[in-house]
Amino acid sequence: MTKYIFHIGTNLHLAFAEVVSVYGLKSIKGYQRDYLLVELNFEFTQSHLDKLGSVIEVYQVLSEPSYLDENLIADDLSSHSFESKVLFGVSSNFLDGKHKLDVLKRVKKNVKFSCRFLESITAASIKSGGALNVKTFVYGFFEFLNVKYFARLSAIQDIDSYSRRDFGKPYRSAKLGMLPPKLSQVMLNLAGGKSVYDPFCGTGTILIEAILAGKKAKGSDLQTVNIEGTKSNLQWLVDNFQYHFGGNPPKLNLEKNVFEADATKMKSTYLTGVDCIVTEGFLGAPKRGTEYDKELESEIVELGELYYLFLKALAKVNSLAGFTVVLTLPVFKGSKPKDPKNFFIENLVEKLPALGYSVSALVPSNDFGIKAKESVLYKRNDQKVFRQVYRLTHRGK
Ligand SMILES: C[S@@+](CC[C@H](N)C(=O)[O-])C[C@H]1O[C@@H](n2cnc3c(N)ncnc32)[C@H](O)[C@@H]1O
Repeated sequence: MTKYIFHIGTNLHLAFAEVVSVYGLKSIKGYQRDYLLVELNFEFTQSHLDKLGSVIEVYQVLSEPSYLDENLIADDLSSHSFESKVLFGVSSNFLDGKHKLDVLKRVKKNVKFSCRFLESITAASIKSGGALNVKTFVYGFFEFLNVKYFARLSAIQDIDSYSRRDFGKPYRSAKLGMLPPKLSQVMLNLAGGKSVYDPFCGTGTILIEAILAGKKAKGSDLQTVNIEGTKSNLQWLVDNFQYHFGGNPPKLNLEKNVFEADATKMKSTYLTGVDCIVTEGFLGAPKRGTEYDKELESEIVELGELYYLFLKALAKVNSLAGFTVVLTLPVFKGSKPKDPKNFFIENLVEKLPALGYSVSALVPSNDFGIKAKESVLYKRNDQKVFRQVYRLTHRGK
């Protein structure tokens, strides 16, 4: 067993849900200020991190000393041989900036070779290409439940690849809402499954992430323009991300796997060979931020009807017990500054049991003080539409 420390992004609940879904609740041994202590029975590498949407960096634990001091860093640095200048830094879940700087200065004094320290750790400063720079060492001083951990950074999120996926694809549409690739990855991980269907595929973001994760992917949408756009995006993926596929790109069969269809008129053929649905459904008309609350309220009711019809149609054709649906439901941010209110689709969750679905909680109860949650809100403050992530399981017919 090896211990790792996962630095998680801004959404604790989503990150916790993702790590639990992929590695199991038992793998998590601690949580303290943006970091999870995780124990795994395999070597966690960059390619594992590349499949997680909510983890920014991963540190491998080197020791559990009684004291965390500069000698640990100096000794580890000295055990590597260098021909040219080395860079080093330190992260922590209990030291503040001033104390980290003191540690770094003392390390520099202690070692006999030429080196430079990084006051702040940014991906750009420590990476070369998609991986860590071989001459950069970022250490971690961590504490979980009064136990101290000395760790070294072993994998970091490939932000360049995310922005290429996000901004580089040929067909994009601000009107459709631009689901972030990282959230798509989290949703795919919440679902599990090897073969995914997105019945509201839009520009194909979820399908792109599914294919990169080595899954089979199928998608449909009501609009021809989105179907054509998704096809060109998937072809672009296969043509431009060769290194992700290690010279063995997947066969897409676009004519068969990306097709025009109304999600509220689901057919059993759409689900052939599929073991889960992962989707961001329709978010409504693009928002200016000046809509009256009344307008938002009536639009959210209409959207609720669309989601209900989709889930009802799916339940009719789906005969697979345990079939999983991970979906986001839109949440509108009200525009009254004095009375800020979010508009949710109400009453949908209550209608689900009658259709054969149960909500499978995303954040299980745990010993880390993290609130258990059925669903998790994903939001950025500059957005006018947020997304509530749900995981449903169908009991079969
Ligand atoms: C928010 S977008 C999805 C965006 C997508 N996740 C992406 O990354 O581009 C919702 C999509 O649902 C489609 N849509 C709306 N109503 C539909 C229906 N009844 N059946 C199928 N697709 C529908 C829209 O055309 C739109 O492309």
